[in-house]
Amino acid sequence: MAGDLTEPHISVVPRTEAERARIAVAVQLPTDFSKAERFEAKPGGAATVPRHLDTTVFSQPAADVPEAELLDFELGRAIFEKLWVASPSSTKASDGLGPYYHARSCGSCHVNDGRGFAGMDALLIRVSVPDGDGGTRPHPEYGGQLQHKALSGMEAEFQLNLSYDDVALDLAGGEQANLRRPVYGLEMAQGALGEAAMISPRVAPTMIGLGLLEAIPTEDILALSDPDDLDGDGISGRAQVVQSAEYGVSMLGRFGHKAMMPTVSEQTAAAFSADLGLSTPLFPWHWGDCTEAQEVCRAAPHGDDPEREGLEVDSRAMAVLNLYSRNLGVPARVNVEDPQVLRGKSLFHEAGCAACHVPKHVTHRREAGTGSFQLIWPYTDLLLHDMGDGLADGRPDGLANGREWRTAPLWGLGLVAQAGGQQGYLHDGRARTVLEAVLWHGGEAEAAKEKVVALTPEDRAALVAFLESL
Ligand code: HEC
Ligand code: HEC
Repeated sequence: MAGDLTEPHISVVPRTEAERARIAVAVQLPTDFSKAERFEAKPGGAATVPRHLDTTVFSQPAADVPEAELLDFELGRAIFEKLWVASPSSTKASDGLGPYYHARSCGSCHVNDGRGFAGMDALLIRVSVPDGDGGTRPHPEYGGQLQHKALSGMEAEFQLNLSYDDVALDLAGGEQANLRRPVYGLEMAQGALGEAAMISPRVAPTMIGLGLLEAIPTEDILALSDPDDLDGDGISGRAQVVQSAEYGVSMLGRFGHKAMMPTVSEQTAAAFSADLGLSTPLFPWHWGDCTEAQEVCRAAPHGDDPEREGLEVDSRAMAVLNLYSRNLGVPARVNVEDPQVLRGKSLFHEAGCAACHVPKHVTHRREAGTGSFQLIWPYTDLLLHDMGDGLADGRPDGLANGREWRTAPLWGLGLVAQAGGQQGYLHDGRARTVLEAVLWHGGEAEAAKEKVVALTPEDRAALVAFLESL
C-alpha cells in the first residue's frame, strides 16, 4: 500500500543520491550529550522565529515567508481570528455561522495560535456508530461531531458536564503524582446517543510548523513505521492512510490526533464545516454537520453569497487562511547548552522516547513555497501508536483503533502556558503538567513511562527541563 501513496499537495524536486546520504547523517540520533547538537536551537530550520516573551510567541510568520506574501499572511490571520455571526446579518462578509457550531472563530479554540484547553469551549467531541460492516459511520441523528452551540431559537445538541477522578501514582524517590482521569457527562438535547455510540473528546493542537510537517516526505514517515514490530523493540508505529477529499487519492494522514487529515487545507475546510458550520469550496453544504434527521437545522438561514462564489467562505479566503495556517513559525529553543537540559535530553533518549518522538526530519526540496529542504526538529514520527487503556477513547478512526494516537509533536511544549495562559496536554487536555502527560503513557510507551517513574527526582526534573526547553 505504501508505494501507492502520492503527494499531490506539494511539488517536489527529487533528492539526489548524495543528498540522501547527507540526510541520513543529519537525522542520526545523538550519542554525545555533553553539548548541544548543531542546529538544535533552530527547530524550524530557516523558518524558525524568535522566542518572544509574551502571548504572541506562536503567532509569528515563519522567517522564510517572502516579503511579498506577508500581506496575505495577515489577511489569513484576520480570518483565523474573525468572529463569525449568524445570517442574515449586515456584516455580510462574516455571516453564515452554524446553524450548529462549536465556536465562533478558529482562534477561540487555537488560543493565540496555540492549543485549546479542556473545560473551555475548545473541547470538541467526535461521535460515531458501528456501520455493521466492521467500520464506523457518523451518528445517524447527531452527525460526526457534537455541537454545544446553536443559533438563537434552536437548541444546541448537548451540554457537557466534565469532571475528573483522581489517580495517584507513586514515583521513585518518595514522590507522588496526582493524575486526573476525565469523566464526560453528556446531556443530549435530541434523545440519547444510544449504547452503540462511541465518543472521542479532543482539544485543539498548537498551530506552529504545520507546513513543515506537511513537507516531510511520505517515504520517510513510512520508513519509520514497523507495524509488526519486526525490530522487536515493543514499538510498532502504523501509518494512517486516508482518502483525500481534495485530491481524490490515498494519502498519508498527518494532522489531527488520529492523523485523519492529509493536508492543512483539508483540515481547515473540515474545521469550517464541522466546528463553525460554514461552507467552503471543498465542503460546500452550508449546514455543516447537521444530519438529514435534523430538519430544522438544514432549513435554517445561511450565508451562502453570490459574491463569495455562492459560499460562506470562498476560495480566496481559503487561500490566505491556508497560507497563514501553514506558516506560523516555530520558536527558537533556549538553554540548549544548559547542563540540566542536556542531562534531560540524554534521559529522553535512554528512556526510548525518541522511538516515537523522532527528533529530526529533513523536508522535501520544493519547487516553490516555504520550508523547502530544511532540517527540522518536531519530535514526532507522525505515526499511530497504541497508548494503552488509560488514554484509549475506544473509537476507531480510519486505520487507527480505539487505543491508537498520533505521536504529538513536542516543539513549542515549554511555551504552552505562555501562549495560552494555562497548561494542558494530551489529546483531551487532561494533563496539567508535562510530567503528567508522560505518566499517562502506556501500551507501546509503557516501558518508557516506567523508566520515568523509576528516575530519581533530580533526573525527572532534568527530563522535564529538557521537554520545557523545546
Ligand atoms: C471547536 C474548536 C476548534 C475550532 C473552532 C477550530 N479547531 Fe482546529 N482543531 C481542533 C481540534 C480538536 C483539532 C484536532 C482534531 C482531531 O484530532 O481530529 C484541531 C486541529 C487542527 C489542525 C491540525 C493541527 C495538527 O497539528 O494536527 C489545524 C491545521 C486546524 N485545526 C486549523 C483550524 C482552523 C484554520 C480553524 C478555523 C477554520 C480551526 N482549526 C477551528 C479544534 C478546533
Ligand atoms: C510508543 C510511542 C511513544 C513513546 C515511546 C513516547 N511517547 Fe510521548 N506521546 C506519544 C503519543 C501517541 C502521544 C499523544 C497521546 C495523546 O494525545 O493522548 C504522546 C504525547 C506526549 C506528550 C504530550 C504532548 C502534547 O502536546 O500534549 C509528551 C510531553 C510526551 N509524549 C513525552 C514523552 C516522553 C518524555 C517520552 C519518554 C519517556 C515519551 N513521550 C515516549 C507517543 C509516545
